[in-house]
Amino acid sequence: MSRPAGQPIVVSLAGRPAGGTAERPEAGGRPRPGRVFLVGAGPGDPGLLTLKGKSCLEASDVVIYDALVDKRLLEHARPGAMLIYAGKRDGHHGRPQEEINGLLLQHARAGLTVTRLKGGDPFVFGRGGEEALALAEAAIPFEVVPGISAGIAVPAYAGIPVTHRHVAAAVTFVTGHERTGADLSAVRWDTLGPDHGTLVFFMGLRNLPEIAGKLMDHGRPPATPAAVIEWGTTERQATVTGTLADIVERAQQAGLEPPALVVVGQVVALRERLGWFPEPWAPAAQQ
Ligand SMILES: C[S@@+](CC[C@H](N)C(=O)[O-])C[C@H]1O[C@@H](n2cnc3c(N)ncnc32)[C@H](O)[C@@H]1O
Repeated sequence: MSRPAGQPIVVSLAGRPAGGTAERPEAGGRPRPGRVFLVGAGPGDPGLLTLKGKSCLEASDVVIYDALVDKRLLEHARPGAMLIYAGKRDGHHGRPQEEINGLLLQHARAGLTVTRLKGGDPFVFGRGGEEALALAEAAIPFEVVPGISAGIAVPAYAGIPVTHRHVAAAVTFVTGHERTGADLSAVRWDTLGPDHGTLVFFMGLRNLPEIAGKLMDHGRPPATPAAVIEWGTTERQATVTGTLADIVERAQQAGLEPPALVVVGQVVALRERLGWFPEPWAPAAQQ
């Protein structure tokens, strides 16, 4: 059914009209808890926020946002909404997770509508599950609004489909850990061998030497195509490609910095034909 011309799109938020007023404490009674929306902001390009995510921002009294969230998205918040930065970025200390959970509970218990705006998708390496558990345990109503994860969108903007018929029938998201020298033993490297399609490493740049080494130790040929994509989907996007054998050197030469995604597998070779997004800052080594 087509939408009549001139009719606005209205996204309902589980029975609450989009853009509606927050649930306030009732006069004379115990405050009724508000509601928390755990919203995925998408990977960087502000145009990749979902319609439902935008409605949550418009409806909220409080917005608690992360470092990788594009600040232009905050313009969707209603005038007077409280904007709270909760950022943690590689190597820089942000608020501890317990403090963020505490903020969510505090504002929701005051009867306010809260949007927790997180980069990419809240449940993909985003600790959104921990926040949802804290809310569930405190009996605070919440909703999860999935976002477009960097895991698919960043390769797509680099011209790399994470699956492709006859090339990769599976894709695996893997944590590369943020800190240099972090313990990578939680990763089952034996399950990431050559038969397991595309690998996408989040937070993997600092540990790229260990990652490339372990993959080769576990049977991925040194000639396997690999890519590192910095600030994907944004005007700062820069992509470096190579093989497992030389990607470390190429990424270092290019001076790539987090946030960056590492993609490993034959699909990377498709970038030669499918690269579409302009990268004016791409390192000269790639030209
Ligand atoms: C804590 S994880 C959050 C992932 C997020 N929840 C998601 O679904 O995209 C942060 C990591 O995601 C990757 N990442 C997020 N945004 C990115 C971007 N625009 N370009 C490249 N990598 C990105 C980087 O590996 C970064 O270190």
